[in-house]
Amino acid sequence: LVIVLDFGGQYNQLVARRVRECNVYCEIYSYKTDLEKIKAMNPKGIILTGGPNSCYEPDSPTYSAELFKMGIPVLGLCYGAQLMQHVLGGRVERAKVREYGKTEVFTDTSSPIFNGVSEKTICWMSHFDYISEVAPGFRITAHTADCPVAAAENESEKLYAIQFHPEVLHTQEGTKMLSNFVLNICGCSGSWRMDSFVEESIKAIREKVGSGRVLCALSGGVDSSVAAVLLSKAVGEQLTCVFVDHGLLRKNEGDEVEAVFGPKGPYNLNFIRVNAQQRFYDKLSGVTEPEKKRKIIGEEFIRVFEEEAKKIGAVDFLVQGTIYPDVVESGLGGESAVIKSHHNVGGLPDYVDFKEIIEPLRDLFKDEVRKAGLELGIPENLVFRQPFPGPGLGIRIIGDITAEKVRIVQDADAIYREEVAKAGLARSIGQYFAALTNMRSVGVMGDERTYDYAVALRAVNTIDFMTAEAAEIPFSVLQKVMSRIINEVKGVNRVFYDLTSKPPGTIEFE
Ligand code: XMP
Repeated sequence: LVIVLDFGGQYNQLVARRVRECNVYCEIYSYKTDLEKIKAMNPKGIILTGGPNSCYEPDSPTYSAELFKMGIPVLGLCYGAQLMQHVLGGRVERAKVREYGKTEVFTDTSSPIFNGVSEKTICWMSHFDYISEVAPGFRITAHTADCPVAAAENESEKLYAIQFHPEVLHTQEGTKMLSNFVLNICGCSGSWRMDSFVEESIKAIREKVGSGRVLCALSGGVDSSVAAVLLSKAVGEQLTCVFVDHGLLRKNEGDEVEAVFGPKGPYNLNFIRVNAQQRFYDKLSGVTEPEKKRKIIGEEFIRVFEEEAKKIGAVDFLVQGTIYPDVVESGLGGESAVIKSHHNVGGLPDYVDFKEIIEPLRDLFKDEVRKAGLELGIPENLVFRQPFPGPGLGIRIIGDITAEKVRIVQDADAIYREEVAKAGLARSIGQYFAALTNMRSVGVMGDERTYDYAVALRAVNTIDFMTAEAAEIPFSVLQKVMSRIINEVKGVNRVFYDLTSKPPGTIEFE
């Protein structure tokens, strides 16, 4: 175990993630965690993260000097590095110029941290304060043009300070530095794998749940699926999963979810599928305003779930598939600052009678959730599923929703996905789907006039879904999709490809 002590930096989970990439288990704790508690966990190493404060100011996060005297290797990053120097008798001051971005760093490769690292290497810097004088017993092991102490160490005490951010990918050899620390300096074996995460989570869930009852709202998305399987492996029939089919899912999706989680699937849990299609269509009938549609779908979803929950009665735990990016965006990420609030977190369903929330994926990034999913034996089509919005096809049908329009968009979308997969592009495009415009136009088919709908195809590449660009799908693939949709999907006589970026467009149509 390596402990990451959180001092409020933006990259704390990245530190944890890089450590896990070295196959070393690690956990993040607040800097307010007691020294005794840390000792009791018997970590092989401790990493202090960055943070937004100045360590010489009276109210800034700090830690007692004893932390550095236990014989456990400590690596301080950015604020953590400054704090280590400050607490041990070095000097930290405000620099004249802020160092920010990719910076050339000159390293002393005789240092165990820089073992195998180039003498001149690009690192990510982000700091105002700098270490102007190292603490007694330390030697300087790296510098930049502007920063005299880019790294320092006291090798005999196993204390290491790095001013830049090795956890950020822009630090080209950062992973090497972190692996030097956890494997060579701390002596971790590097044998932790995703299967250990699965095993440990199952053990922890069992301990927490005991003989209690657990309720999970299953959407069929990656996060809730992985959370549900984890829970089912841990507590089996004590878990009930409620899956609301609102009739706005992709083609066959409801049946696919049922095949995995239902009684015929491999898991031993109580699975309740609520076929609420008609209820949603009735409520949505004639409604065209996008926000109103979203609200109706959201509220109806809660009503349906609430009714099911009432039938089940009081439960002890409610499972949520919250993953780390949700936590950060909501400003619940430990000591770090609020960025924006997210709809999945914070708004806990107070209409369900439960005692406690379980969030088994709270520390993982999306790709790690997928790895855990594969480890748990969840089918690849679920594990690598694209993001799909809660309101589903409801926001991919422009204007009012009818069962007929849902059928059209489901069929068109299924053809599109099939052809993209056949062309080998499925995993290289961020998100892609068909939508139904509310435009009808004149065409000719056979010798007859048609007056039918236009389908829009959308495909975007994006890193964070905040900005996106239209993906370049080969014209031949698009033509094939167009021709199949027009021939196979009744009610469509035109196909458009949406080239709009985000901004100004959004990814979804409503
Ligand atoms: P937009 O359309 O805002 O979409 O560019 C950005 C990403 O968010 C997804 N999305 C949603 N996801 N509930 C969700 O869970 C929603 O109401 C919702 N609206 C959009 C969208 O699919 C895209 O990945």
